[in-house]
Amino acid sequence: MASLTIRGIGDDLKKRLKMRAIGNNRSMEEEIRHVLADAGHPLDERTSVVSRSLQSSATPLAPMLGGQPAPQRGLPAGGSLAGRRVVLVITGGIAAYKSLDLIRRLKERGAMVRVVMTKAAQEFVTPLAAAALAGERAYTDMFDAATEFDVGHIQIARDTDAVVVSPCTADFLAKIALGLADDLASSVILATDKPILIAPAMNPRMWRNAATQRNLARVREDGVAIVGPNVGEMAETGEAGIGRMAEPIEIADAVSHLFGGAVARSLVGTRVLITSGPTHEAIDPVRYIANRSSGKQGFAIARAAAAAGAGVTLVAGPAALPDPPGVKVAHVISARDMLAAVEHALPADVAIFAAAVADWRAAREDAHKIKKGPGGGRQLALVENPDILATIAHRADGRPRLVIGFAAETEQVVENAKAKLARKGCDWILANDVSPGSGIAGGVMGGDRNAITLVTRDGVEIWPEQSKDEVARRLIERIAAELSHP
Ligand code: PMT
Repeated sequence: MASLTIRGIGDDLKKRLKMRAIGNNRSMEEEIRHVLADAGHPLDERTSVVSRSLQSSATPLAPMLGGQPAPQRGLPAGGSLAGRRVVLVITGGIAAYKSLDLIRRLKERGAMVRVVMTKAAQEFVTPLAAAALAGERAYTDMFDAATEFDVGHIQIARDTDAVVVSPCTADFLAKIALGLADDLASSVILATDKPILIAPAMNPRMWRNAATQRNLARVREDGVAIVGPNVGEMAETGEAGIGRMAEPIEIADAVSHLFGGAVARSLVGTRVLITSGPTHEAIDPVRYIANRSSGKQGFAIARAAAAAGAGVTLVAGPAALPDPPGVKVAHVISARDMLAAVEHALPADVAIFAAAVADWRAAREDAHKIKKGPGGGRQLALVENPDILATIAHRADGRPRLVIGFAAETEQVVENAKAKLARKGCDWILANDVSPGSGIAGGVMGGDRNAITLVTRDGVEIWPEQSKDEVARRLIERIAAELSHP
C-alpha cells in the first residue's frame, strides 16, 4: 500500500486541521484527503496518510486550509459563552432527550459543544442526533481507533473550558464520587482539570437514598458544581417529587456561572424595582415592631440586577448595609412608607418583593414614651398594614410585566407559597424556609445563605442552598430568560 507522509505540521496548523475535521465530522486522515482533493491533488484510496507534527507550520497544507480560524478563548461582549468550549457528557437517563435542547442552548450562547455519551445514554438518544446538533461527531468509545488518533480521552478532557454532565444519573454520580474511569465519559471526568457541572436526574427515591446523598456531598466537596434537581412530575408515569433534571435553560445559565457568572448585561433597558429588609412600625418614639430581616437578599438582587445592566430602584427598609453602587436607593422605615416609595418608583418592568414587611402596626403610635403602669402587663392593639406586593400585583394600570414575591415560611413551605402566589396575584414566588430547623448556618433571615423553592404557574423548582449572591444571580438570569420570550 502507498503511503503519503506529511511533515512539518506545527501546532497551529494541526489545531486548525483538527477543528476543521471535527466540524466536518471526519477523522484527521479523512480531512487531509479532502483538503488535498479540494486543492486538486486527490489521493488514491489505497494511499495511507501519516502526519508528522514537527516544528514549522510553513507547509503547503496551510493555504489549502483556507479561512478556518482556531477557536478564540475569552468572553466577547454580548455572548455569555462565546468562544467557550464545553464537553457535554450525556449519561443514560430518560432526561437525556433534554440534553439535545441543552446543546442548542449552549450553542445559541456561542459555546462550542463536544458531546461524549455513555453506552446507556445511547439507549435514549442517538449519537447521530447529538452530533447533528453539536456540529461534530459524538464520542462514545474509550477504545475507538479514530478517536484515539484524533482526540483521545485525555485530550477531550483537556481541550475544553468546562465539562457538563447532563443528565447525571445516580450511577454516574457514584462513579464521579469514587473516581472510577471504566468508560470514555468517566475517564474524561477523571482526567479533566476544568470545572465540572452536573445536572442530576433520577427517581425521587434514588435521590433521597443515603448513598446518593453521600456521593453528592463528596462531589460537592471536590468542587463539582451542581444544578437542580427540581421538583415535579417524573417521566415515569405516576411518579413525582425531587429528582427531575433542571431545565436546559437553567443548566445553560449554570454553565455561564462557571465562567464567572457572566450574565452579560442581559437586562440592559429593563427597569427593576426591588424591596428589601424589614420595616419598623413605631409603638412610641423609642419602641417599634420589627423582624430579623437584614436586607442582604434584597441588596444582593439589586447588585445582580445592576450588574446585568438594569436600571434599578431599591426601596430599602432599615438595614446596616452600604447602598449598592449604580442603584437608586429609597430608604424607608415603615410599611406605609415602603408602599408610597414603591408606587413613586413605578413604572417598572420587573418588581421583586424581598422585603419582610411587618404585617401589623400599632393601632396608635404614642407621642411619648409609654410608661410602665401599676398593673404590670399592657395590651397592644394592632391593625393590618397594606400588602405592598398584592397592591402592585393587582394594579389594573401600570402593573410590572413580571411581579415576583418571596415567601418566608416555617412550615409547609411549598403549599403556603402556592397559596400566597394565588392570593397575592404575583407571577413567581421564591419561598424560603426561615425556621430555625432549616439547617442553613446563620439562618436565612440575617444570614448569608439561602435555599429557594421557586413556585411559578408552571410548577416548582428547588434551588439548593447557596449564597444570597448566587440566589440573586440565578434569579436575574431567570428573569432575563423570561423577558426574552415575547
Ligand atoms: O433580609 P435577609 O436577612 O437577607 O432575609 C431575606 C428574607 C428571608 C427576608 C427574604 O428572602 C424573604 O423571604 N422575604 C419575604 C419575607 C416575608 O415577609 O414573607 P411573607 O411570606 O410574609 O410575605 C410574602 C410576600 O409579600 C413577600 O414578597 C413580602 O415582601 C410581601 N409583603 C408582605 C406583607 C406586606 N404587608 N407587604 C408585602 O409586600
